[in-house]
Parts: sequence; structure tokens; C-alpha cells
Amino acid sequence: MAEMTTVDFSQLTCGTRDERSKIVREIGRACEERGFFALVNHGVPASLRAAVTAAMEDFFALPAEEREEYMGKQLFDPIRHGAGRTLTADGFEYRRDFLRIFVHPTLHSPVKPLHFSAICEEYGRKTREIAHELLRAIWESLDLEEGFVGAIMDVRSGHQILIGNSYPSGPGPNLGLGLPAHSDIALLSIVMQEGSTSGLQVFHQGHWNLIEFIPDSLLVHVGDLLEIVSNGKYKSLLHRVTLNSTSARMSIVTAIGPNPEDRVVPLPELVRGSGSSSAKFRSIKYIEFVELTARNPFDKAALNLVRLCDV
Ligand code: OGA
Ligand code: NI
Repeated sequence: MAEMTTVDFSQLTCGTRDERSKIVREIGRACEERGFFALVNHGVPASLRAAVTAAMEDFFALPAEEREEYMGKQLFDPIRHGAGRTLTADGFEYRRDFLRIFVHPTLHSPVKPLHFSAICEEYGRKTREIAHELLRAIWESLDLEEGFVGAIMDVRSGHQILIGNSYPSGPGPNLGLGLPAHSDIALLSIVMQEGSTSGLQVFHQGHWNLIEFIPDSLLVHVGDLLEIVSNGKYKSLLHRVTLNSTSARMSIVTAIGPNPEDRVVPLPELVRGSGSSSAKFRSIKYIEFVELTARNPFDKAALNLVRLCDV
């Protein structure tokens, strides 16, 4: 099992000055050393978490002809659905059904099931508020003024996507995976699952470790863009999904990034402060990085293509 930091979100928002500073340091350390942490007391009601999970389940249960119009879409289509198996060139099989929708700045939702859009809107809003609060703490942990970051990237009116993942039960890590090893693209992603079925693994110090979800918690991943803007100090999380041998599993992931047209750069304050005075990544528009990732989806391949080596 993976060791992880547990962050009490309520102490970040309602704690004393000292409690808040302690949490900010904990978040900074977790982003630097592991690339993820668990979030408790985050304020997303259990009823809303259950509702968004149920809404996704209902979508996947619709007859194929009602889901068809969202299938085989391009990367920038605001509603994309895929179902079944993917076979890679080396014969490896991935099994997952997914629905991926844009929720901010504009919500795009399939018309069915009923209430789907209202539930996703509400879940998107709640998790967006959490992500903004976490990002504020992250900038603080990097000794950055929020205004400096805001001048470079527009996160408030930035881009948020919501993904429902549904994995069948299966034979386990060496015979079938739900999702191959990858890192998430955006600044932060927040992963939620109901129930205790395990499957998500994170890569740490040369090993894959299974995540044990703390009941009611959310999991926060550092994404590639945060690795770029922090000039490599905070590492995006390499993770994959294994199929659980006994149960199907469902997860809800939301990812927060800047405006797709924003250029993502190692923040100048951090480049100057790094001693070596050099940027470790070249700058790239968020939308271009998404395209690069689509062509290089595995491991941290896309990020490595914008990494400046040997400087
Ligand atoms: C993802 C992802 C993890 C999970 O959708 O990018 O990593 O547990 N999902 O489903
Ligand atoms: Ni992921």
C-alpha cells in the first residue's frame, strides 16, 4: 500500500494562522516528495458524491444508441465517451468506459440521464472551489504571491473537466489494466471514489503501490502543468489503474487548469530562486500541451518532451 499524506482541508480554510501554515507546509512537502495527497474534511457532501457517481452509472447504463453520438470524438469535443477495450500495439489490453465533459467555464452535458447536468454543475463548482483553495496554498508553499501567478495564468476562469471512469473486474495488473501508466495533464486533479474497491496505483521510488482510499476522502494529484510552473519542484504523479479481481470499480476525476490559450511557463520567481537560474521546461500553450499529450499518452512522455535537458 502507498504511504500518503492526509491533509485536513477544514484547517486550511477555518484553522488558526498556525494551523494553516502547518497545512501549507504539509501540502508543499507532499507535492514535492510524492505528487499526491489525501484530502479529508473537504466539505463535499456525501449525498453529492453519491449523486455524481450514480449519475455516471446511469449514463453508462443507457442503451448504446443513446451514448453513440458522444463516441469517437476528437480531443477538444466538450463531451467524449468511450467504451470497452483498447488494445495497444504491443498487445496490451486496457478496459474502461469513460465519459469526459467540460464543466467550466461552460458546462457541457449529455441530455440524458435526467438531472445529470445539474449534478455535474454542482459537483464541478464544489471541487473547483477546493482546487482554487489548494492552489492558493500551493503558491504560498512556493513563496509566491497569488497575484504573480494570476498575471501569468488565468486559473479562476480556467478550464475544468469532469471524467467518470467505469472499470470492469478483471484478472489483475499483469493481464489487464483499466488505464496505463500516465500523469494527468492539468495543474491539479481530484479523484473521488465511493466504496473500498481498490485499483489505483501510484509509482514511487521504483515501485507501484496501491492506494487505499480513506472513506469519504478525495485524492489530489499534482499534474504536469504544476510540475512545469513550479520549475520541477513539484512532481506530477505517475499512476495507473489495475483491474480489481472481484469487483467493478468507478471513479470520478476532475482536473483544473488555466485558460487553454494561456502559455504555461516555469514561474520566473522560481527560476530565479532555484540557484541554477535556469528554466527546466520550455514554455508551451496549455492547448498545445494537451495535443502533445494526446500523441504521447503514456508515462510522462509529453512532459519529457518539453523538459529542457542538461541546462
Ligand atoms: C484518470 C485516472 C484514476 C482512477 O482518469 O486520469 O487516473 O482511479 N483515473 O480511475
Ligand atoms: Ni489519471
